[in-house]
Amino acid sequence: MHLAILTGGGDAPGLNAVIRAVVYRAVSGGHRVTGFLRGWKGVLEDQGRDLGIEDVRDIHKQGGTILLSSRTNPFKVENGMQRIADTLSRNSIDCLIAVGGEDTLGVARKLSESGFKVLGVPKTIDNDLAATDYTFGFDTAINIVMESLDRLETTARSHERVVVVEIMGRHAGWMALHGGMAGGASVILLPEEPFDTDEVCRILRSRWDEGRHWALVAVAEGAMDPQLTRHVMHAQEKDAFGHVQLGTGIGVAEVLAQEIEDRTGLETRSVVLGHLQRGGPPSAFDRVLGTRLGVKVVEMAESGMTGRMAALRGGEVVDADLADAVGTLKKVPLERYSVAKLFFG
Ligand code: F6P
Repeated sequence: MHLAILTGGGDAPGLNAVIRAVVYRAVSGGHRVTGFLRGWKGVLEDQGRDLGIEDVRDIHKQGGTILLSSRTNPFKVENGMQRIADTLSRNSIDCLIAVGGEDTLGVARKLSESGFKVLGVPKTIDNDLAATDYTFGFDTAINIVMESLDRLETTARSHERVVVVEIMGRHAGWMALHGGMAGGASVILLPEEPFDTDEVCRILRSRWDEGRHWALVAVAEGAMDPQLTRHVMHAQEKDAFGHVQLGTGIGVAEVLAQEIEDRTGLETRSVVLGHLQRGGPPSAFDRVLGTRLGVKVVEMAESGMTGRMAALRGGEVVDADLADAVGTLKKVPLERYSVAKLFFG
């Protein structure tokens, strides 16, 4: 078989582990692998390269993706479908493996519905994809959030300050929730539930009254106080999939920090963790998860599947319908959020 692989959307630690595993498993099964560059852009422009064992040896230790990535949406490009079909037939690709989040896998699903053999591997540091328990990249990212909170705590304590920390997650707050819980944030704010800045200030004031004169507030970039929309007004840029690009204007952390200082008189700083959360080497969990998913997806290709993705369910790597993974985001259930709230203050 001639397999092809691409990586699309925001990069995530563990992508190289998937690429390596696909190549190792494919080569051991007697197959050939082409890597398309820059996600769907590389398929549209027929920019691919052969991948052999020497190209991928030990790359599972590296963050990012050796295939590069983009947020290109082929359905927004003139003749996008036709150009993809041309590239796949010109290169005699038997099955295309798309490694990505909701957007990349959404394209994969549409292509498979149009008759192409396409499989998926779920990826996003946001962990918001349905049909899989965890996506690789998430574990690395929340460890970075936790370590950042640990570091911010010592300086917040020394200066008796509030530090508001903005954490990635436009639509789902998994990273803020897990990173904030692990890092001991006094308040965690998620996109799933609108927050009230007065209530945040009340929690902080009582913390000070009880003698704990420092606090970390973990806020997901998509969290919002409906009374406080200045940050959203400034973030009107959209990507090719129509998502508002948060973090491009004034962010929620900066606005919230200013409000907290104004309303409580407590000295407050804001920190945007930004792309630090996506960079650097993957954790052991993400290296192993990426490897298991990569091996699985080649086995799925061998058995002739299409329109499905490799997924983690209850600790096992299984195949799942791409349709179940796209369309609805996996958001933080409010019962999970209420566990974190027990520790607020
Ligand atoms: O989807 C992954 C993600 O890291 C989000 O958490 C974040 O909102 C977005 O990508 C940032 O995108 P970009 O790298 O294009 O600024």
